[in-house]
Amino acid sequence: MKGMLKENSLRNKVILVTGGGSGLGKSMVEYFVELGANVIITSRRKDLLDEVAKKINAENESEVFPVPCDVRNINEVEKVLDEAYKKFGKVDCLINNAAGNFISPTERLSTRAFDAIIDIVLKGTINFTLTLGKKWIEEKINGNVLNIVTTYSWTGSGYVVPSACAKAGVLSLTRSLAVEWAKYKIRFNAIAPGPFPTKGAWERLLPGDLKDKFDPSKKVPVGRVGEHQELSNLAAYLVSDYSSYINGEVITIDGAEWLKGAGQFNHLEMVSDQMWDMFEMMRKKK
Ligand code: HXC
Ligand code: NAP
Repeated sequence: MKGMLKENSLRNKVILVTGGGSGLGKSMVEYFVELGANVIITSRRKDLLDEVAKKINAENESEVFPVPCDVRNINEVEKVLDEAYKKFGKVDCLINNAAGNFISPTERLSTRAFDAIIDIVLKGTINFTLTLGKKWIEEKINGNVLNIVTTYSWTGSGYVVPSACAKAGVLSLTRSLAVEWAKYKIRFNAIAPGPFPTKGAWERLLPGDLKDKFDPSKKVPVGRVGEHQELSNLAAYLVSDYSSYINGEVITIDGAEWLKGAGQFNHLEMVSDQMWDMFEMMRKKK
């Protein structure tokens, strides 16, 4: 799987990626840097961020700048933005990618368990969006926000209810501000990924032998999980100026996984060719 955009497509852009030290965030960061962007990465694990930045910086001209923060803490969020401005003088794009999640029957959850997820996913996104958005408005910067949601942001899903509630809020924020802040030339889009293997998601959503019992690729009509570069390609396009007219959109990248669950007759894929032949014969006889 190759990178999609032309060399230097993101040259001179400064992009801030929350949760940029692991999983899909890290893959996006690697591709943005390859395309010439300078990137600020933030999450709670300082050692991990430092290590990722060191490795990427050793191989590239553009720079990754690690600043630890807990997205739930507004003071820490403000500090990240201060440091980013000191370092690069601006931030052009914000990717709200940091998330927390786990599976559980909802009746087993405490309200604190809901808080943990909603504070990271929804409040963390609001903390960064509002703080940076106000700066952009004041400085008349044409900002660009990309939120990473999920396909259950609009369908809802049992067993991940705090995450479903929080991601639905992020999707609503995306669509609301796409319209309200268009007058400031700030645009908002979202990506809804289907299953993409990452340690963070797989360990929490497929613990123990669930991995073997519920192979995620079996739920996807195209018969496989996503490749990180596929998502990075889409993200790079959405943060680039090539997508300037795309605003308020959520783009699903899931091999039609969620639609398979939605279409009323999709289960008919279990019907064999011989059975279809039989139905056809019956129909013709009639
Ligand atoms: C039930 C749980 C729980 C679990 C924690 N809690 N884990 N309840 N099942 N597995 C409860 C705790 O008991 C506690 O409530 C409350 O939640 C807070 O827990 P802490 O451990 O103190 O929280 P914290 O240290 O803030 O950690 C946050 C976390 C953790 C979300 C719980 O997993 C984390 O740091 N995750 C970050 C990375 C991550 O989740 N990545 C996956 C993203 S994948 P009480 O009442 O006991 O105090 C994703 C994919 C979506 O979003 C779609 C996939 C297809
Ligand atoms: P991941 O590696 O666990 O990514 C989550 C990131 O968020 C981590 O880097 C984590 O870093 C950071 N984070 C968590 N809590 C934080 C906090 N309080 N403050 C700052 N950073 C925090 O999992 P992933 O699969 O790559 O997920 C990335 C995004 O894709 C998420 O938005 C997720 O919902 C979405 N997604 C993933 C899939 C999938 O199949 N993988 C499917 C749909 C949607 P620290 O622990 O260092 O803080």
